[in-house]
Amino acid sequence: MRSPDPDGSDAMGGPGRRIPGRSLATWAVSYGVGGLAFRAGARRGDLVARLESERELQLSPYDAYDEVRAAGPVCRGGVVWATASHEATTTILRSDDFVVGAGGAELPGPLRGLTGKLLDPWAASPVDPPSMLATNGTDHTRYRRLVSRAFTARAVSGLEDRIRDTADRLLDGLDDGGSVTDVVDRYAALLPVAVIADMLGVPDDMHGRLLDWGNAASVTLDPSLGWRDFRRAEDAMRKLHLWFAEHVRTLRAAPGDDLISRLAVLLDDEHLTDLELRATGLLVLGAGFETTVNLIGNAVAVLDEHPEQRAALREDPSLWANAVEEVLRHDSPVQMTLRVARRDTEVLGTEVPVHTPVITYLGGANRDPAVFDDPHTFDVRRPNAGSHVAFSSGAHFCLGAGLARREAEVGLRALYDRFPDLAVAGTPVRRDTRVLRGYERLPVALGRRVRVG
Ligand code: HEM
Repeated sequence: MRSPDPDGSDAMGGPGRRIPGRSLATWAVSYGVGGLAFRAGARRGDLVARLESERELQLSPYDAYDEVRAAGPVCRGGVVWATASHEATTTILRSDDFVVGAGGAELPGPLRGLTGKLLDPWAASPVDPPSMLATNGTDHTRYRRLVSRAFTARAVSGLEDRIRDTADRLLDGLDDGGSVTDVVDRYAALLPVAVIADMLGVPDDMHGRLLDWGNAASVTLDPSLGWRDFRRAEDAMRKLHLWFAEHVRTLRAAPGDDLISRLAVLLDDEHLTDLELRATGLLVLGAGFETTVNLIGNAVAVLDEHPEQRAALREDPSLWANAVEEVLRHDSPVQMTLRVARRDTEVLGTEVPVHTPVITYLGGANRDPAVFDDPHTFDVRRPNAGSHVAFSSGAHFCLGAGLARREAEVGLRALYDRFPDLAVAGTPVRRDTRVLRGYERLPVALGRRVRVG
């Protein structure tokens, strides 16, 4: 994670152009060093390093989280510390002693200052400042306040009809004569992108390209990344920045009733620089469609494995809201986040020195038996399913949580009302990301189609 050029100007060659040496240095500092350290740690048997580098544990991390938790509230990994305890996770995320790792705060001493100098403001990712996810203190509060108006409970309930209409339109297009359909590609990915694009004034013909760029860029959330993937992600981020700058120009000339039009005309204390505007808009856009797709996909997969839970939902559709909470808990779409100690501190009896990076495994905290009885069991009737931390906790608690919940509940109900016999048909393929957990492909047979409404 790197710091931006403060005024957002591009001193290194202008928008749209990559400087090869700079890209390589950025990759090396931001991802390469971490990747090497994790792989070396994994060879020594370090559990957290294995979780961050082994494909098998990426696919099935839940037993490993139990081991991390068994090591104590905070597990001292050789490369990075970690927790899968619900209490330690919420303590860290709500504590003033921990910050998000902006500006490379999580890196070893000599590398810490380098990151800010390397950042290319025309390829900054969601984990680079000035994205909200990578800023602390008053800047963070300022960005968050400006955006949160669009995500109040009232604003979200006003979107419900639009979500339902979009779901119905997409489902109309799914009637393809009983053949096998990829429910991620044809439905779970398209519903959130249509909703967030509408909120941000993005034209319909951009959805496909945004999904492609967003998918390529989503790996930047992961702590380690190969050079080739980094270059692909950086190219995608650059395309997103260039497109967004043009989008802002269009909206400034003819503002609409959307969030970006409103942010683009703020003045005085509230004014956002071009870089701040791009970082904020692209974060909301990406967070809007790179996460809910996983929630919907994970729900379809787990409900397919548990026909008795599907039957319970059929009998009592009022259980759907709780079922969405249980999917968020049981197979969290965002598996982890990172904090760095900004002073010597202590978490539930474990001393944590200043600059220590600690991964909070949200997916692990959500399987903590101290909070959830029989935590590995999927149960749509679980009374405290909503006590999960799938949306994080504290200052960075997900701004879109209410929207994601509505999209998932409305979207899943509409899907199963229309196709009550829908069943996974073929081999589901997981996405190759560690922070985001979802399906790349989820083939389903739609079966009988019920006319609704
Ligand atoms: C199932 C869907 C979603 C999940 C699991 C999810 C999860 C998260 C998590 C875990 C964080 C905090 C990361 C941290 O603490 O470091 C976060 C932050 C955020 N999310 Fe979501 N999210 C989802 C959907 C959405 C949607 C639909 C939007 C917006 C349209 C959104 C917008 C944001 C924003 C703007 C932040 C940054 C908040 C801040 O830093 O203050 N998210 N999300």
